[in-house]
Amino acid sequence: MTSWVTNIAINPNTGLISCQIFKGFFFKFYLLHINNLSVCPFLLAIIGRLLDCLGTKISKIMATLGVNIDHIANVRQARKTVEPDPVQFAFLAELGGADSITVHLREDRRHIQDRDVFLLKETIKTKLNLEMAATEEMLEIAKKVLPNYVTLVPEKREEVTTEGGLDVKSNVQYLKNFVGNLKESNIEVSAFIDPFYDQINYSKKIGFNFIELHTGKYAELSGSEQHKELLRIIESTHLANDLGLVVNAGHGLNYNNVKKIASINNMNELNIGHSIVARALAIGLEKSVREMKSLITSN
Ligand code: PXP
Repeated sequence: MTSWVTNIAINPNTGLISCQIFKGFFFKFYLLHINNLSVCPFLLAIIGRLLDCLGTKISKIMATLGVNIDHIANVRQARKTVEPDPVQFAFLAELGGADSITVHLREDRRHIQDRDVFLLKETIKTKLNLEMAATEEMLEIAKKVLPNYVTLVPEKREEVTTEGGLDVKSNVQYLKNFVGNLKESNIEVSAFIDPFYDQINYSKKIGFNFIELHTGKYAELSGSEQHKELLRIIESTHLANDLGLVVNAGHGLNYNNVKKIASINNMNELNIGHSIVARALAIGLEKSVREMKSLITSN
């Protein structure tokens, strides 16, 4: 039996389900929107059965967008003043459709400050993803802030940005205790790792709920080398899914390279910062200069 519904897209993170009807017509509509993660798997199972009866395949799971606003804080800290305020920009990011807000509270506090994290938790309407190193200081902060999830990243003082994935394989016992401690406070935990078989397996053994696959290498490469790295990310996503891990990805993603990563089946969320903030400057600067010019020239 053929169905008039040709394409179903589901995001288990938000519960957003959209259907494309009539083959060849790119018409989508939203069936329902639920924000309850726990009912989703059951709902998806029931919908899956129904669709089987109709002969329709669940063909794709839409990825969500986590917007990293560290660079807003970078500009503020360049002057150690109060603007631009990342809390305000989180609101704008949400207006634009961000599904979550990501901030990295670094040990040296070079951009995001403790105050930002606490205020974001109070004010954002989506989800707060706190990126941090697995240190005792950060653990204490996370347990006070209670973000929706924590992403553990490696951190070196001298690096410009996070350079590689966390080596979970070399720190199994320490990370097990650390992750367990966060989970006791009802915080879900993700590991930012390179797309390697071992790292994924150990992430599962340690007890992470999510992994975030490092796409930095994919972003730097081009041509056939980039394609090879893409395949590695696709295989890693499938392996992690088979183990029951939810898969996010991020680092170096931009307006040119994001589509192929976003279209990986079961990709949950993409965390993107630099290219979005760079684009905001490109499309916003002209207007802000115009406003200043008008203030100067009008009386
Ligand atoms: N994911 C992680 C774990 C990161 O550390 C960063 C950079 O702070 C990002 C995603 C976002 O990377 P980008 O700024 O290159 O988009």
